[in-house]
Amino acid sequence: MNYPLTGYHHITACAGGAQEDVDFFTQVVGLRMAKQTVLMDGSIPIYHLYYSNANLEPGSVMTTFPYSRKPGRPGSGQVAATAFTVTKGTLPFWKDHFKRHNVDQDPVGERFGQSFIRFRHPSGLAFEVIEDPADNRQGWTTPEIGQSESAHGFHGAVLSVREVAETERFFVDALGFRKTGVDNRYHRFETGTGGANKTVTLLHEPDRLAGSWTFGAGTVHHIALWGADQDALAAQKAIYEELGYTDASEIKDRFYFYSMYCRCPGGILVESCCNAPGAFEKDETREELGTKLHLPPWFENRRAEIVGSLEPIRVPDSAVAATKKKVEVTR
Ligand SMILES: [Fe+2]
Repeated sequence: MNYPLTGYHHITACAGGAQEDVDFFTQVVGLRMAKQTVLMDGSIPIYHLYYSNANLEPGSVMTTFPYSRKPGRPGSGQVAATAFTVTKGTLPFWKDHFKRHNVDQDPVGERFGQSFIRFRHPSGLAFEVIEDPADNRQGWTTPEIGQSESAHGFHGAVLSVREVAETERFFVDALGFRKTGVDNRYHRFETGTGGANKTVTLLHEPDRLAGSWTFGAGTVHHIALWGADQDALAAQKAIYEELGYTDASEIKDRFYFYSMYCRCPGGILVESCCNAPGAFEKDETREELGTKLHLPPWFENRRAEIVGSLEPIRVPDSAVAATKKKVEVTR
């Protein structure tokens, strides 16, 4: 079977407040602000904020719905943590950096021989910086985070599951991953060349109650894997249907992307997506990315109402290319 998805594109989580989310991703994790837009389903305005590494690469894009109306319930059947790769030897930097920002962090852990620090977003979401000497993707830099310490992009998601077997079958048979190791309660799956951006880790938690599936602050809503084009999404949908995963969604127009969703047996929602022509640069230049709120055409006639209902946010100058140089000159 030919598998059309080659790694991650984005991971989407539900945050609480919008400004604290912007501050966390741009100043604590050190990502660039890639896009400010809104959730494209339904009619209630909710921000959809996008952050990425320097080159906006698929596999580095963290997105959030700051949704404080209802808290989520963390549990199994959810993403337990999202790991970003960092250069080997930089964990002492990150430990001090988190301390300076009063970020909740755990002691250094190890999984499959790789050291990591788990740390938490203000809403409770768990993230990790994990050392990976093989990942050379270019991170974004900030006044505090230089190129040598920056986050390169995703290593991958850690998914909490009560049972391993059926989620394993989904990632292997439907998505073309192969099982490459078991380390205590962790089961590792990799696709293609493996390693950063091509790894899914299952965390076996048989006694953990199921987490919520709704938008709810402090929970991850879905992971998205990347295909080259809409044909790749159609091919993935055909694989799901051939295998009997009949709840694969239609291919949806997300303005910057096309998306198709299927919930895996362990409960985690898995999106397949490909870029629309222009992708993030469809409605603003690379320099301007992240500087202002963009609405899809079908929401433009409600702009005043939508903007009025959203928490105002301020994006740090260092998080957008258009103003970053000014910050660097004045440092
Ligand atoms: Fe998505």
